[in-house]
Amino acid sequence: MRLPQLEDLPDPSGSRVLLRADFNVPLKDGHIEDDLRIRAAVPTIQWLQDHGAHVTACSHLGRPKGKPDPKYSMAPVRERLDELVQGVDLIENLRFDPGEEANDPALVDRLVEGQDLYVDDAFGAAHRAHASIVGPPQRLPSAAGRLLAEEVDVLGGLLDRPRKPFVTVLGGAKVSDKLGVIDALLTRVDRLVIGGGMCFTFLAAQGHSVGDSLLESERVDDCRRLLGYADGKIVLPTDIVALSPSREVRTVGADVPDGWKGLDIGPGSAAEFSDEVTGAGTVLWNGPMGMFEDDRFAAGTRALAHAMADAPGFTVVGGGDSAAAVRKFGVADQIGWVSTGGGASLEFLEYGDLPGLEALRKASNARD
Ligand code: 3PG
Ligand code: MG
Repeated sequence: MRLPQLEDLPDPSGSRVLLRADFNVPLKDGHIEDDLRIRAAVPTIQWLQDHGAHVTACSHLGRPKGKPDPKYSMAPVRERLDELVQGVDLIENLRFDPGEEANDPALVDRLVEGQDLYVDDAFGAAHRAHASIVGPPQRLPSAAGRLLAEEVDVLGGLLDRPRKPFVTVLGGAKVSDKLGVIDALLTRVDRLVIGGGMCFTFLAAQGHSVGDSLLESERVDDCRRLLGYADGKIVLPTDIVALSPSREVRTVGADVPDGWKGLDIGPGSAAEFSDEVTGAGTVLWNGPMGMFEDDRFAAGTRALAHAMADAPGFTVVGGGDSAAAVRKFGVADQIGWVSTGGGASLEFLEYGDLPGLEALRKASNARD
């Protein structure tokens, strides 16, 4: 069943709309480091305002654990939102109330009070069955905002009709976070390229030494099983940039010596991975190739960002860190789609659905 769209709402003119957005933006010293998630909600807000609605927006910010914490006040978000659109009310951080994560009906009552319609544009939080996400669609005529709808369209397209060859590049620190999505993607992709901290558990599963690199030893067997049935689809680094015990930076092979710590893919691997990307019909990239915040370990992620920018195929970047990387390397506007979802995009690819989407499809105004 399709998601109810803005056009499926009763006439919004003169009505009050509760908008759930994902304004969970990276903050540093109280300043917004990246406002993508705020800008991305603007088309939906404008559509609602153009149709005569009054918008009250709500979002979580950070993980304040159910009580007010000035560090996670919505004030900086409110300030940025006011610069982008006028006349939107923004409720204080939803997670200051323990009822948000607990999906407490009493919080849902308070949120929908005085509201006529509900619009969910919070793709980045659609994997959370929290009060503001799954509650209002049971009470109010509801719709997906433009951003949520487009995210689902693009990521759903990767599952249903990717132009081949379909290459996925995964990185980031933890392999345990990604085992599920790897399992799900292996049946769909032609190539699964793995870099970042998570590659060492795969390399260990192949019998390589990993030195002091990140290793999830309790996941080695899972990685070995995946390598076994992946039928040669999994591509791992053949060289690694590592930090020696005396803190010199050197490129080593796929075996990292004792006491050394692998922190980026090597130049040979960066070239191989880039070739996979430029040869693809569709590329999905989630997770950096190394510790790119440190210039000494940024080359792999930089090379991949540039390969994504140059690739003739359809390119999708998902996840906060890789989205930050394409911006840092100045290529974000050369990417086909930069998802606002990290965990949400991976869970959507793993399960093909999310609690927030399911809730919208069950709303009373949803049609087949
Ligand atoms: C995110 O940034 O991944 C979303 O906003 C969800 O936040 P959460 O992981 O704290 O639930
Ligand atoms: Mg997250």
